[in-house]
Amino acid sequence: MKRFGKISLVLSLTLSMLMLGACSSNNSGGAGEENAGGNSGTKSTKSITLGFSQVGAESGWRSANTKSIQDSAKEAGYTLKFSDAQQKQENQIKALRSFIQQKVDVISFSPVVESGWDTVLKEAKDAGIPVILTDRAVDSKDTSLYVTFLGSDFVEEGRKAGQWLTEQYKDAAEDINIVELQGTTGSAPANDRMQGFKEVISSNPNLKIIASQTGDFTRAKGKEVMQAFLKAHKDIDVLYAHNDDMALGAIQAIEAAGLKPGEDIIIISVDAVKDGMQAASEGKINFIVECNPLLGPQLMKVVQDVVDGKSVEARIVTEETTFTSEQAKEALPNRQY
Ligand code: AHR
Repeated sequence: MKRFGKISLVLSLTLSMLMLGACSSNNSGGAGEENAGGNSGTKSTKSITLGFSQVGAESGWRSANTKSIQDSAKEAGYTLKFSDAQQKQENQIKALRSFIQQKVDVISFSPVVESGWDTVLKEAKDAGIPVILTDRAVDSKDTSLYVTFLGSDFVEEGRKAGQWLTEQYKDAAEDINIVELQGTTGSAPANDRMQGFKEVISSNPNLKIIASQTGDFTRAKGKEVMQAFLKAHKDIDVLYAHNDDMALGAIQAIEAAGLKPGEDIIIISVDAVKDGMQAASEGKINFIVECNPLLGPQLMKVVQDVVDGKSVEARIVTEETTFTSEQAKEALPNRQY
């Protein structure tokens, strides 16, 4: 009886182990088949390779944008091939061609300038690789060359800046002299922020742009150009900077000239990155139009939809707000970028 009991215990243990083994190999086998796109009927989980060509690292906005894209791609489990163009279109074109050669699943990029993309976009289209524009647009007439454009409405940003200024000077009886620090020449944000701003301030003939020059979206250039503006014009009332970094560089030049930014010269800028918001909360920048760089999560969602063959909107606009100095002070502690 004892002996029989032992044999049956060994037998039942062996049986259970065999069954466990069978169960676990069924599980891994099933998952493996799904991963390989087997006939399980569920969606293929084949990993996506995304080629992304970034403009550069010219501003706080750009650094936040890069981090958002890298973090979101990681979170989504995509393989990200990231390339920094150092503000040069030829580098971006090279990067796009290399993505095409590597047969990535999707290409996305933030074009440094608006013009000159048709040839390389056509190459991507011929290779069957969908392209998603983020942040900045291209001026290609053939909109079939890209799937969608995800980013801000830069003309609207310029309008918001102009509306605030127009309101501040609605009762002005004399000329208000404005200097403008433009973004990178030929870029969508520089073109559009200038257009929207001009469109609105033209309603008040007292608001005059007396000088306008590019500061290439960088702090160093913003400072340099503002120094030149201050030398050439003794009567500057307002600075309109197309981004915070240029405004921050200009503030250094204004202070070095013995003037008070935000008081002697009213300052409006765009972006609302932490450093800009800090300057606004100290009263050195009077008004900031927000431009949201955290496009990563939305971009990854669009990438997935495109790979899954779902239809996507041809234009996806980012929601944004504005900040006066007081509002910046309030918002600063919770600012993510
Ligand atoms: O394209 C967005 C613009 O590019 C941001 O406003 C600026 O800071 C950046 O460099």
